[in-house]
Amino acid sequence: MQKEYLTLSKVSIEFPAKQGTFKALDEVNLKIREGEFISLIGHSGCGKSTVLNIVAGLLHATQGGVILEGKEVNEPGPDRAVVFQNHSLFPWLTVYENVELAVKQVFRKQKSKKEMDEWIRHNLELVHMSHALDKRPAEISGGMKQRVGIARALAMQPKVLLLDEPFGALDALTRAHLQDSLMEIHKELENTVIMITHDVDEAVLLSDRIVMMTNGPSATIGDILDINLPRPRHRVKLADNAEYNHLRSEVLRFLYERQKRPEEPSKPVKTTAGSATPEAGEKAEEAKTESRKSKKVA
Ligand SMILES: Nc1ncnc2c1ncn2[C@@H]1O[C@H](COP(=O)(O)OP(=O)(O)OP(=O)(O)O)[C@@H](O)[C@H]1O
Ligand SMILES: [Mg+2]
Repeated sequence: MQKEYLTLSKVSIEFPAKQGTFKALDEVNLKIREGEFISLIGHSGCGKSTVLNIVAGLLHATQGGVILEGKEVNEPGPDRAVVFQNHSLFPWLTVYENVELAVKQVFRKQKSKKEMDEWIRHNLELVHMSHALDKRPAEISGGMKQRVGIARALAMQPKVLLLDEPFGALDALTRAHLQDSLMEIHKELENTVIMITHDVDEAVLLSDRIVMMTNGPSATIGDILDINLPRPRHRVKLADNAEYNHLRSEVLRFLYERQKRPEEPSKPVKTTAGSATPEAGEKAEEAKTESRKSKKVA
C-alpha cells in the first residue's frame, strides 16, 4: 500500500450569495496516490474548477481541507502548477518571458542561465510554440495561449499538475499531439496530475481513475471509475478495444442517465468518435457541432 499523498477530506465550500450562501461543494473525499493521473468530469457548473482551485490553494474550503504530503494546503505554491481554464498569461510579456518567469521562480538556484534558456526553449518546443518566442499573448491565438500556459506549467516540474480543461480550446490535431505528449511526460516525470475535461475519450485515454461529479449545488463525487488499460496507450488501437469502449460508455451513462440535466443544456461532452450524446434536442445538436469542430484523429 502506497503512502497517502494527496487527500481531499470532507471538502465543502460555500460562496456568498444574494440571499445567504451558495453551497457549491459538499464533502468531497478523495485520496490520490503519488504519480496517479486523475480526471475530473461532470456537467458544467458542478464545481470542478472549484475543486481544482482548492487543491491549488487559491480557494479555501469552508469545511474540510486538502493535505499534500502530510501538510495542509493553505496557499498556492510551485509544487502545484495550474493551467487555468481561461489562459492566464501576462499580456506585457512575450511567450518566452512568460515561461521564463515561472522557470526563474523555481530553478533560479539550481540551473545556470544557459540551462534555464535551454529548458524554456525545450518546453515551448514540446507544445510547438518555438516559432513564436517573441510574440505577446495578444498576437497569438487562444489555442496558442493555452499551449504556452501548458509549457509554463510543465517547465515548473511541479509535483502536482492541475489542469483545468487544458486542451478544450485546441484544434483536433494539436489536442491529440498534446495528449500524447502529456502521457509521455507523465510517464517520465511520474508527477501527480488532476485534469478537468469534458472529453470522455480524453479522460479514458489519459487517466488511471476518472472521478465523476454529481450536479450542483452541493456537488460531490458520484462515482469513481478505475481505468486499468495497460500503458503505453495508443488512441488508434484503443478505438476497437472492448474494455475501452465499455469504460467510455460507463462515463456517458453516468453523465447522461444518472446525472441527466434536462432543465438546461450543459456544455457538450466531446467524444473522439464524434458520437452525439444519447440525449435528443439542443444538447445533442450542440455536441454534434462541437464534435465536428474538434473531431480527433482516431
Ligand atoms: N467565486 C465564486 N462566487 C460565487 N459562486 C461561485 C464562485 N466560483 C464558483 N461559483 C459557483 O460554484 C459552482 C461551481 O463552479 P465551477 O466553476 O467550479 O464549475 P465547473 O464545474 O468548473 O464548470 P465548467 O465546466 O463550466 O467550467 C457554480 O454554480 C458557480 O457559479
Ligand atoms: Mg470550470
